[in-house]
Amino acid sequence: MSTLVAYFSAEGTTKRVAEGFASEIGADIFEIVPEQPYTVADIRWTNPLSRCNKEKFGKKDVPVMGKVADFEKYDTVYIGFPI
Ligand SMILES: Cc1cc2nc3c(=O)[nH]c(=O)nc-3n(C[C@H](O)[C@H](O)[C@H](O)COP(=O)(O)O)c2cc1C
Repeated sequence: MSTLVAYFSAEGTTKRVAEGFASEIGADIFEIVPEQPYTVADIRWTNPLSRCNKEKFGKKDVPVMGKVADFEKYDTVYIGFPI
């Protein structure tokens, strides 16, 4: 049984939870890193014109760096992200 925890974290909260969870259940871990890093202004979620809201409402795909090696080997994949 092979398990992966893939996560995105802009400010570190999700990262801490994902690392603790993956360690607890013995899963591999993969950090999702956007090609274009988010600035503080980009993730100001209370600003309707910020990048994160434009991406959300525009349903834009965000190009990311890297790939999960041997993705097919995983039976279960948990995905962590800020909400
Ligand atoms: C796009 C976006 C939307 C968010 N929406 C909310 C929200 O509706 N309510 C809230 O309390 N926090 C909201 N936040 C704040 C995040 O939940 C909080 O900053 C979280 O700790 C971010 O996780 P991270 O440290 O892993 O990046 C939002 C953050 C982002 C980037």
